[in-house]
Amino acid sequence: MNNMSCELLASNLVPHGNLEFRTPPHLANCAELYVSDSARLIITSNFSIGQRSKVKLAPHSALIVGANSWIESDCIVDVNGFAQIGDVTTIQKGCFLLGSFTIGSGTLIAPNVFISSGKHHYNEWFNLSIREQDKLFEEAYGRGYSNPVEVGDDCWIGYGVVIMPGVIIGNGSVIGANSVVTKPVPPRMVYAGSPARPIKHR
Ligand SMILES: CC(C)(COP(=O)(O)OP(=O)(O)OC[C@H]1O[C@@H](n2cnc3c(N)ncnc32)[C@H](O)[C@@H]1OP(=O)(O)O)[C@@H](O)C(=O)NCCC(=O)NCCS
Repeated sequence: MNNMSCELLASNLVPHGNLEFRTPPHLANCAELYVSDSARLIITSNFSIGQRSKVKLAPHSALIVGANSWIESDCIVDVNGFAQIGDVTTIQKGCFLLGSFTIGSGTLIAPNVFISSGKHHYNEWFNLSIREQDKLFEEAYGRGYSNPVEVGDDCWIGYGVVIMPGVIIGNGSVIGANSVVTKPVPPRMVYAGSPARPIKHR
């Protein structure tokens, strides 16, 4: 993409949908913000989206962002359902936040973290392919599978962490680099490994 189209994109904040803010979001070069017609984006103030990052709200979704939070470059935030990011929370380069999730205030998300509330269906209908099972689920429920992820206040999520659907990480907890979090993490604990296990109290 050349510089001119990057600038056009950055100035083209919200082509559709509902956006409310105290101060408008700041989009770096080639960042994209797309709010579907029936979606709602509520930003308090000083929310910035880094270079080449994409923030997208699917129809009937909502994203609420507190004050002074930012998303670094090359992130994908694809909200489908309800999502919230608290105050002074930072999301570093290359993170994926997908589906429904809440991230508290003062939380630090290191680079390349993957958070998703969704999954594929691989073992519900024995004779069907994964794609066929996903389609069957969507036809039956009118939407894809989603089990929201919750990360509390004052958490530190290390580099490359994967957080599975439905996982709740309590306030003040720390997750070691490259961990895969499959179970709830109580408040003020340090967990690490794949699957993540308790290491110590904080
Ligand atoms: C989890 C973490 C905070 C713990 O740090 P710490 O309090 O100094 O703990 P220690 O280094 O003493 O480790 C305690 C134990 O946990 C293990 N451990 C630490 N981090 C681990 C990880 N990511 N995966 C698996 N085991 C880990 C250590 O091997 C050690 O095991 P042992 O008691 O059997 O020797 C740190 O290891 C970590 O992963 N930090 C994240 C770094 C990062 O992602 N930075 C990105 C920039 S924001």
